Amino acid sequence: MQALAQEIGLELDISYLSPELPETELSGWQRDVDRANALLEERCGPGSGFLGWMDPRALAPGPLMDDILQTAARLRAESDALVVIGIGGSYLGARAVIEALGAPEAKPVFFAGTNLSAAYHRELLTRLEGRRVAVNVISKSGTTTEPAIALRLIRQWLAAQKESARGPVVATTDANRGSLLNLARREGWMRFVVPDDVGGRFSVLSPVGLLPIAYAGIDIRALVRGAAGVADACGDTDLRRNPALCYAAARNALYEKGFCVEMLAHFEPRLRFVAEWWKQLFGESEGKDRKGLFPVSLDLTADLHSLGQYAQQGRRMLIETFLVIRGGEPGLQVPADEDDGDGMNYLAGRTLEEINREAYRATALAHREGGVPVMSVALDRLDAERLGSLLYFFQRACAVSGYLLRVNPFDQPGVEAYKRHMFALLGKPGFEEQARALRERLDGSAGGGVVRFGG
Ligand code: PA5
Repeated sequence: MQALAQEIGLELDISYLSPELPETELSGWQRDVDRANALLEERCGPGSGFLGWMDPRALAPGPLMDDILQTAARLRAESDALVVIGIGGSYLGARAVIEALGAPEAKPVFFAGTNLSAAYHRELLTRLEGRRVAVNVISKSGTTTEPAIALRLIRQWLAAQKESARGPVVATTDANRGSLLNLARREGWMRFVVPDDVGGRFSVLSPVGLLPIAYAGIDIRALVRGAAGVADACGDTDLRRNPALCYAAARNALYEKGFCVEMLAHFEPRLRFVAEWWKQLFGESEGKDRKGLFPVSLDLTADLHSLGQYAQQGRRMLIETFLVIRGGEPGLQVPADEDDGDGMNYLAGRTLEEINREAYRATALAHREGGVPVMSVALDRLDAERLGSLLYFFQRACAVSGYLLRVNPFDQPGVEAYKRHMFALLGKPGFEEQARALRERLDGSAGGGVVRFGG
């Protein structure tokens, strides 16, 4: 186990990268990493207008932090539940932190605007029945279809409720532009700003993430403190002492050797949305110019009984990063059973934490022996400060990794393609020309048509 940043409580273990990536070869990346990191530090790389996330303290300075905390307290006092409306970077960070750290006794936070499913939204509205509902609608562009539709549905539902069921509404928008900002002004909603120099997937430590996270009762000052600790530690750019840079170098080195999929595997269901956030962070930042590791996540041990077979013996194109929580779990022991009918007494008295830890060690070794280069990112416990460290660790690594890959990690031009087609197909004003061209392409498709049973 190579401990790289013990004082922060986050370590990167790279001892299972060999033989594909021996440590000596990884050290050879130092010069490239220095160059990539300098692009970031000197703010002269592609997308350098979007580096506002680099200093977490500056993202929510004192007065703004106070405002967020006061607003969260007011929302809590005036509601039984919060609906967060947003998609992609406008909701994943908040959901990641709330699901990882949220206390069962906290007021519930629901999410809308992340899909276009009628069933999902109908069920959500049913679950809101009888509650006093506050809303935080988040969109930087203010024009994203999914959250805009969800907002209409929620507003219509709220309008149909008694006055006492309607909690406050907060809009988190661009400072100067967009229809959501105009609507918020017209309706007199409380407002927060998505900073101009922060893209959605890097916005969790701005008001975008902090307000809903604070509503859930999570210590957002500790979250920012954890992130700031890693930001400070990133002044040391030696690969042997900087896990973020080391991780960025390792994944690029392996990518150059032909590995093309990275699995982020964890053993805690409550980390599922941290993995979803990570997928967006790396997928949207690196997947362009026909390059990039494809990020997938594994919920373990569940996925060992589905994707585990592929990970062990399928096509060798996979690398794996384990997300490990070392301590702090309340002990829950396997009970003894007099008859031992199931033969499980050999585990009696042992904690689930210990068994889960052995499941991790067994899996990492098995996958390593199956030809998967493995790394582990370990937190010494799961709390707001450690989670803040982890989020910043990945953001920093992602930015440097993107520069090593020679892409702009801060844009997402590809996200627009489906939107343009959808707008055209749905008849959005201004898309008439595209709609005509699209229909011709759809009708004239040179594919093999549809195959049905029985012809
Ligand atoms: O990371 C990003 O920039 C995107 O995922 C956006 O957050 C997402 O598309 C939502 O955009 P908006 O906040 O403009 O509604």
